[in-house]
Amino acid sequence: MRGRFISVEGIEGVGKSSNIAALVGHIESAGFEVLQTREPGGTPLAEDIRDILKDRGDEPIPEVAELLLMFAARSLNVNNVIIPALENGKWVVSDRFTDSSRAYQGGGRGIPLATIDGLADLVHRDTWPDLTILLDAPVEIGLGRVSKRGARDRFEQEQHEFFERVRECYLQIAAMEPERFAIVDTTRPLADVRQDVIALADLLLTK
Ligand code: TMP
Repeated sequence: MRGRFISVEGIEGVGKSSNIAALVGHIESAGFEVLQTREPGGTPLAEDIRDILKDRGDEPIPEVAELLLMFAARSLNVNNVIIPALENGKWVVSDRFTDSSRAYQGGGRGIPLATIDGLADLVHRDTWPDLTILLDAPVEIGLGRVSKRGARDRFEQEQHEFFERVRECYLQIAAMEPERFAIVDTTRPLADVRQDVIALADLLLTK
């Protein structure tokens, strides 16, 4: 049986890593093999592209190049990692997927969503997550957590308004696809957030 595909989304500092760890642990304890991946990245070449995208080098990266690099990395990850795992019956949990391109390159940078969805169609056709968990918190809370982590990458150095647009876009696309998206408010205590994330996995496990 084909495995299930879950993506976890959100702006920086909403607690993706710890919730993904809890999610993966829960699915494994239900007896399924889980492949955990991240975007951009997930394969050796895609991780090289990640380094290019996150480094604060001197050469500016035009918005369109940024978008195409995201989808080049995604093409590698979908074809070389995600689809083979799903076909082998594994569950896949991805830290970000195409909704990040919609929110960051679309909402944040202003590239039309139709352009991004056209690339999504080209790169992964109908390989969309069965469930997308949007971890949501106001920008000042997320960025407040990130500022404690030290050196900022090329995205983390963006201004507050950029992340407001990203968050707004996430909420809009979640509202457009309510059957795929679940929004989890991460301003609450960590244990409550985890409980919600695990309950969402349980819904998929029993489907
Ligand atoms: P992170 O996953 O460690 O937060 O870093 C990935 C960064 O890349 C994050 O700032 C969001 C950004 N990003 C995009 O702008 N578009 C994309 O399609 C993806 C997958 C990530």
